[in-house]
Amino acid sequence: MSNITRADFNRYEMNVYNPAPFIPVRGQGSRFWDDADKEYIDFAAGIAVNVMGHCHPEIVRALEEQAHKLWHISNYMCTEPAIRLAKYLVENTFADKVFFANSGGEANEAALKLARRYAYDHYGPEKDQIISFENSFHGRTLFDVTVGGQEKYRTGFGPLPGEVIHVEFNNLEAIKAVISERTCAVMLEPIQGEGGIVPADREFLQAVRKLCDENHALLIYDEVQTGFGRTGYMYAYEAYGVVPDILTSAKGLGAGIAIGAMMTTDSIADTFKPGVHGTTFGGNPLATAVGCRSFELVHNQDFLDGVKKKAELFRELYRELNEEFHCFKEVRGMGLLIGAELTPELSDRLKDIFKACLEEGLFVLTAGHNVIRTVPALNIPDEDIREGFKRYRNALKKLFG
Ligand SMILES: Cc1ncc(COP(=O)(O)O)c(C=O)c1O
Repeated sequence: MSNITRADFNRYEMNVYNPAPFIPVRGQGSRFWDDADKEYIDFAAGIAVNVMGHCHPEIVRALEEQAHKLWHISNYMCTEPAIRLAKYLVENTFADKVFFANSGGEANEAALKLARRYAYDHYGPEKDQIISFENSFHGRTLFDVTVGGQEKYRTGFGPLPGEVIHVEFNNLEAIKAVISERTCAVMLEPIQGEGGIVPADREFLQAVRKLCDENHALLIYDEVQTGFGRTGYMYAYEAYGVVPDILTSAKGLGAGIAIGAMMTTDSIADTFKPGVHGTTFGGNPLATAVGCRSFELVHNQDFLDGVKKKAELFRELYRELNEEFHCFKEVRGMGLLIGAELTPELSDRLKDIFKACLEEGLFVLTAGHNVIRTVPALNIPDEDIREGFKRYRNALKKLFG
């Protein structure tokens, strides 16, 4: 086998991501190493995916055990791991039924199709309007980018699915002005992730729930980023105490293996009869076996309390960092979904901070146009958090010191 280099990426892959100038080759826990053996502390976890860090022995074992049993059999048959994972999700959420997809975007596509079809079946074809929120992000299928509240992701891809309206997030008057009996669904992230870590107000969610009920519209929560223990709750809706009709989950659910899930109640799920929707790989035995182990590890009160404790340590270290550099206007979020908004003077330095951190051996993410996002593994050791902040400090000192 010939050596693969970073230059080969430009030669052979489409450049939709503009990846870092090195190639990560192995990871362990919350650290990983590149092709020059440089070590990085991982505050990104594969964009809120690797909830148990890299190569967690229990997750590796689940994958290996299933790899020796059954990889793929098709949806002509059901499989034990998928049924088990669906049972875990149903027994521990508001939902009665689960549909498995392969990603967050696909889970959202399924949710949107379900909402439209449910309205069509129960109220007729006129009830087709979908309301979503500015700055939201729901994935990259054509329906997802249409419902997502960021113009840049849909520019040039038209014609787009119709009857989608975007209103300002957390603005009750704005949604009141457009919702009606023609609305079939309202879709939102309880905490906007890609848009800049912007939490919904509790009163706003309560009022949206009420508006949906009054107008016979389904409330869809996209918990692709907020779900699966990320906030210190299994799903963020538990923290808000406002229950949706449909919820999507992905990212952490597979602890690094591609999977998505769309969950709902029996009466809504009934719309998806055989043949109405489907996927070749969704709910395959490998992904769902890993999902089961991931669920068993994360769905544990001590573990979730640990997420909240680690979040406090992040906040404390952010306070220290800000006392020294005064570069953050606000640090916000819930649990280990943390956004640090830069002060207006530094808002054009986001990329510089990201790059300086990488140079110092720390992988952070960005969100929106002025937010540093940290979404580490939920089991990140405290010493890795401290070491990560040392490197963060070095990066800021280099830039602003
Ligand atoms: C809230 C939310 N929804 C949907 C998606 C899309 O998920 P995927 O990239 O797995 O399709 C993302 C990805 O970042 C997300 O954050």
